[in-house]
Amino acid sequence: MTAPSVIITGASRGLGRAAALLLARLGARVTLNARTESALNQVRREIEAAGGRAQAIAGDIREPDVSERLVAAATLNFGGVDAVINNAAMIQPLSRIADSDPETWRRNLDVNVMGPFLLVQAALPHLRRAPHGRVINVSSGAAVRATHGWSAYCVSKAAINMFTAVLALEEPDITALAVRPGMVDTAMQAELRECGRGAMTPEEYQRFVESHRNGALLPPELPGRALALLALRAPRAWSGRFIQWNAPEVQALVAQSFADGD
Ligand SMILES: NC(=O)c1ccc[n+]([C@@H]2O[C@H](COP(=O)([O-])OP(=O)(O)OC[C@H]3O[C@@H](n4cnc5c(N)ncnc54)[C@H](OP(=O)(O)O)[C@@H]3O)[C@@H](O)[C@H]2O)c1
Repeated sequence: MTAPSVIITGASRGLGRAAALLLARLGARVTLNARTESALNQVRREIEAAGGRAQAIAGDIREPDVSERLVAAATLNFGGVDAVINNAAMIQPLSRIADSDPETWRRNLDVNVMGPFLLVQAALPHLRRAPHGRVINVSSGAAVRATHGWSAYCVSKAAINMFTAVLALEEPDITALAVRPGMVDTAMQAELRECGRGAMTPEEYQRFVESHRNGALLPPELPGRALALLALRAPRAWSGRFIQWNAPEVQALVAQSFADGD
């Protein structure tokens, strides 16, 4: 079997970087995207130094031509598109609805919802041709739990869950999942601690500060491993679901893959 070709956005740091490194270790050829070219190339070099295959395509996922370039590069250099991981996202604006800057609110939905839409649309013809095409949309608990000051982010993640469900309905040959990665120790969490104080309630804010202080945030490698394995192995029967990174069936998939020697 040829090595699967996977496109992953937001791959320059955090969860996306961790998932990309593992995908390459598992034998996938990875097309990386984020805006910061230097950080993205650093991840590409890490993958290549470990013997893996990767290419970096920098650009803002809000721009339709970035999705087209990602798909073109994956098909030209890596033979197709077997899976897409829509991981790039922003949390801002961290402000109450009454105070939110409309342009930042709109940008949030452009990155978090339009980005995945554009990439899936560009990749669909190739995903349909793949032996088992998969779309992994990185969601959040915010999709189902309202938080003060997070209106755009909560709306965007609820939208990504429904986007996933409709995609699964319309594309029976593709497996589409929305994945909840837990609370992960990344730059996004640091941004929450830095900018969230005035927007969240003191109790909500304290929960994030305490989780960080107590070491309760997950290392990106743990949910990153689940994302990578779901992109390569998620069964079609799961398509359309909103699934937690450590749900028993996901952990069984992870354990099985490593037992198989991956
Ligand atoms: N961390 C958590 O606790 C947590 C919890 C639930 C869900 N999530 C979700 O997990 C995913 C990854 O988050 P993270 O915590 O790893 O965040 P992060 O550290 O802030 O990383 C975000 C990634 O997205 C890229 N990005 C941002 N805007 C972009 C744009 N317009 N176009 C292309 N790339 C863009 C960033 O790189 P550039 O800045 O270089 O573009 C970076 O690589 C997100 O979907 C997030 O909503 C995270």
